[in-house]
Amino acid sequence: MQLESLRSAFLRRFHTEPLLVVSPGRVNLIGEHTDYNEGFVLPAAIDKVIIVALAPSGSDRCEIEALKLGQADHFSISAIQKGEGWQNYVRGVVHFLKQNGYAIQGFYAMIDGDIPIGSGLSSSAALEGAFSFGLSQLFQLSVPPLLLARIGQQAEHEYVGVRCGIMDQYANIFGHRNQVIRLDCRSLQHVYYPFSFPDYYIVLCNTLVHHSLASSEYNIRRQQCEEGVSILQKHHPEVKSLRDASAAMLHEYIQEIPPVVYMRCMYVVEENDRVLQAGEYLQDGQLDHFGELMYASHIGLQKQYQVSCEELDYLVELTIDRPEVIGARMMGGGFGGCTINIVHRDGLKDFMEFITHHYTKRFHRKPEIYVGQIVDGVHVVD
Ligand code: GLA
Repeated sequence: MQLESLRSAFLRRFHTEPLLVVSPGRVNLIGEHTDYNEGFVLPAAIDKVIIVALAPSGSDRCEIEALKLGQADHFSISAIQKGEGWQNYVRGVVHFLKQNGYAIQGFYAMIDGDIPIGSGLSSSAALEGAFSFGLSQLFQLSVPPLLLARIGQQAEHEYVGVRCGIMDQYANIFGHRNQVIRLDCRSLQHVYYPFSFPDYYIVLCNTLVHHSLASSEYNIRRQQCEEGVSILQKHHPEVKSLRDASAAMLHEYIQEIPPVVYMRCMYVVEENDRVLQAGEYLQDGQLDHFGELMYASHIGLQKQYQVSCEELDYLVELTIDRPEVIGARMMGGGFGGCTINIVHRDGLKDFMEFITHHYTKRFHRKPEIYVGQIVDGVHVVD
């Protein structure tokens, strides 16, 4: 429906038939802030998407309209500079396609979709993927999938200023229906684990608190991890990232590591172990144990990594005595956005009412609640 209306709007505006690209957001079941430490993550693409209509402009000029925002951007392929806000995701992707040697030409684009922006579902990676993949298709560039993910990440680092890991872009590109991705962020190899439990839903509760990852805290966490690594390296040169560290190793050098850095590093080491363990539980269908690890992950993010907030903590706290909830935790970079919950279908309605009632009472705003389906990664639709 949305696709058809986007196509019509595009035809009215640019008078040419577009290529239509669907680009999903992502959830992450467990493994937060582990990606840039070369650890493990367990994300999946979900049915909250960005859709983009694209056609060649026949010149050097690019014109882009973002329907939901009521904003537009234009630039020339030969002179790309940084812009404002969302423009940088698109400009950055085009810049890095070019820089990687791809013969990119001018284009018209129209953006729509239903993914909530700044809610921890990675609308940014969805936007990057829509353009890296979409332009590769449009101009028949055959950019390899891993490079598409990297181009999105480069855009984020250089144009947006967030030194993010690769998880979000990877899930957007490699997502598979009803499967979660167990990604090793060092080797960049993945395996798929089926996630099709007919009795359970992945439910996202949106605090509607808008995080701003770019606003430094994310980059500070990354720096603290690097600081920990550089201290450990003095004693263990083989430690290239926190992936190579253990709790015992951190403990051994506790005197040398500043307390905050120690706490951050310990979280990452423990979270990595949780992801590996969680993957096994998932494969064995032991959802109860899986859920316990989700709660442990949340506590680590709240107390050790300190990227949660009052609203996220309350949403998780509310689930603790709910029999229909298997596990819950904050998801994504933090400081707002969504919690991810695994909820039994029989209790879904009660769960939604309960959360809505209590959250609204405490924060005077209604949370948004979505049931997420795991879908394919970015693709073109006929
Ligand atoms: C953001 C980043 C990811 C990842 C998560 C935290 O979503 O884009 O690379 O670091 O935060 O797990």
